[in-house]
Amino acid sequence: MDVVELIKSRRSIRQFKQKEIPQDILINCVDAARIAPSAANLQPLEYILVTDKEQVDYLFPLLRWAAYINPKGDPKPGQHPTAYLIVLLNENHGEKWKFHDVGAAVENFMLAALSYGLGSCWLASVDRNLIRSFYRIPEEYSIDSVIALGYPAEEPLLETSDETVQYWQDSDDRLHVPKRSIGKILRINSF
Ligand SMILES: Cc1cc2nc3c(=O)[nH]c(=O)nc-3n(C[C@H](O)[C@H](O)[C@H](O)COP(=O)(O)O)c2cc1C
Repeated sequence: MDVVELIKSRRSIRQFKQKEIPQDILINCVDAARIAPSAANLQPLEYILVTDKEQVDYLFPLLRWAAYINPKGDPKPGQHPTAYLIVLLNENHGEKWKFHDVGAAVENFMLAALSYGLGSCWLASVDRNLIRSFYRIPEEYSIDSVIALGYPAEEPLLETSDETVQYWQDSDDRLHVPKRSIGKILRINSF
């Protein structure tokens, strides 16, 4: 698939097949994040890759899913993520553009994952206190977010809408994801 098609086919995935992900694939996706653009090339991002089943199970209740349709959008029993990437910011190396670094690196990671057939969901609504104490993460690191991973067991539908930003589920539980139209967000050679 060409890169633009890959980018356009990425959707947040919240239902997963219970098939193990080879660890070398996940490490290669982190490698794609590692070389993302970084302001002043400070590279403040570090990661914890979670593949151990007990840890994966521990993390699940610490995450909040799909706020607009809660709790219907939660991963169903038997369709939970099979791995996670915890995204850390080393505050000794961060500065005011650090969140831009996070965006670039996480998108690199999710697109690399998609190229291996993996679904992902980037989660900012996470219990940072419990994650910090479970992994004994030192104070100089902030916990930015968590990326849930697994082989997709759903196929959300991309739609164009200037009426609403709220994703919704139809009667078959299929997720519909509205995006603003190009006409509303792009101006050419003027404001
Ligand atoms: C910074 C950020 C934080 C997010 N946090 C959550 C979250 O806590 N829980 C969740 O289910 N989805 C979360 N999402 C996923 C968004 O809901 C999703 O990207 C949006 O609905 C658009 O869908 P799409 O990713 O399929 O284009 C987050 C996305 C971003 C970029």
